[in-house]
Amino acid sequence: MSIAKRKKDHLNICLNQSVEKNRNFFDDYEFEHVALPEVDFNDIDTSTIFLSKNISFPLLISSMTGGMKQASRINKNLALASEKKKIALALGSERVLLEKDRSLSSFQVRRFAKSIPLLGNLGAVNLNYGVTIADIRKAIDLIEADGLFLHLNPLQEVVQEEGNTNFKQILPKIQKAVAACQKPLLIKETGAGISQSVTRQLKKAGIKWIDVSGKGGCTWSYIEGERGNKKSLRRLGNIFSSWGIPTPEAISECSKVSGIKIIAGGGLRSGLDIAKAIALGAEMATIGLPFLEKSLVSSLAVENLIKQYQLELKVAMFCVGAKNIKELAQKEIFYHGQDNS
Ligand SMILES: Cc1cc2nc3c(=O)[nH]c(=O)nc-3n(C[C@H](O)[C@H](O)[C@H](O)COP(=O)(O)O)c2cc1C
Repeated sequence: MSIAKRKKDHLNICLNQSVEKNRNFFDDYEFEHVALPEVDFNDIDTSTIFLSKNISFPLLISSMTGGMKQASRINKNLALASEKKKIALALGSERVLLEKDRSLSSFQVRRFAKSIPLLGNLGAVNLNYGVTIADIRKAIDLIEADGLFLHLNPLQEVVQEEGNTNFKQILPKIQKAVAACQKPLLIKETGAGISQSVTRQLKKAGIKWIDVSGKGGCTWSYIEGERGNKKSLRRLGNIFSSWGIPTPEAISECSKVSGIKIIAGGGLRSGLDIAKAIALGAEMATIGLPFLEKSLVSSLAVENLIKQYQLELKVAMFCVGAKNIKELAQKEIFYHGQDNS
């Protein structure tokens, strides 16, 4: 099956089925309300710096798509809105671009998003399947990106009929790639989470930014299981749909590793979730699925969702008495959940 066809299946399943199989684990955490915040709401500054660029608040739209007709519209609307609202944007896997030059136009969004941090994406496992360091450089240069996410997705690959499952010796290859690329390589999962011990290994390989992309949002084992015709794969995808590290837990564990900056991803669904993620130790937050549907409507629909998230973040900052993101990061957050199943 072609990569473009697989990407099309992903979009159709994400748009037409309920692909969030776990609860929102951020609901287990609460801030203490501050009735005397000592802050003027209008003075609250949500801005931050990501990859040396100023952005209006710590949000990155997650890697989703590229390489087919529908993707051109999606990526253009995401780019226009991200530029207007000054947030960061990551594009979907560029593997298809390495194989088919004509898929380039759906990834060429820099002309719509001149000033913001823009990131490319490739599967780290592809380093065992013919993708070279030159390909990584090409994937960055072709889209004029500020860096590139290498995704780690063993669960997603093993539930795919055509998945790439040889993850042997990927870490030294990541290390070589980091050393050979001038632009930063970041790591992400795709919804099963990253642990503290894997974070330590990635740190040794030279990685500075990790999107934990944990359990709580889009469930890729389920999506891949739904794509196949085989009953056994569908069953496998279902059984493992509750597998993974809940996102808040991954943030607090991985952020204990010094020298690593954490991006909170996987199931964040509001500006309040973004605020909680920052207080748990993340420097950036990323959201995927909720932007997909909006991106098929218009760039304005994407803009409005971004605006809503920023407002919710600002209200959370107001009610804990944080004037800026640095102060928010210092605020205490309480765990009151009973279980993480
Ligand atoms: C339609 C769609 C396509 C995706 N494609 C990719 C991809 O190409 N590469 C990748 O690293 N992650 C991909 N993801 C995973 C997201 O980047 C993100 O890690 C995951 O969906 C969890 O975040 P969410 O719950 O906010 O969507 C995709 C997600 C969606 C919804």
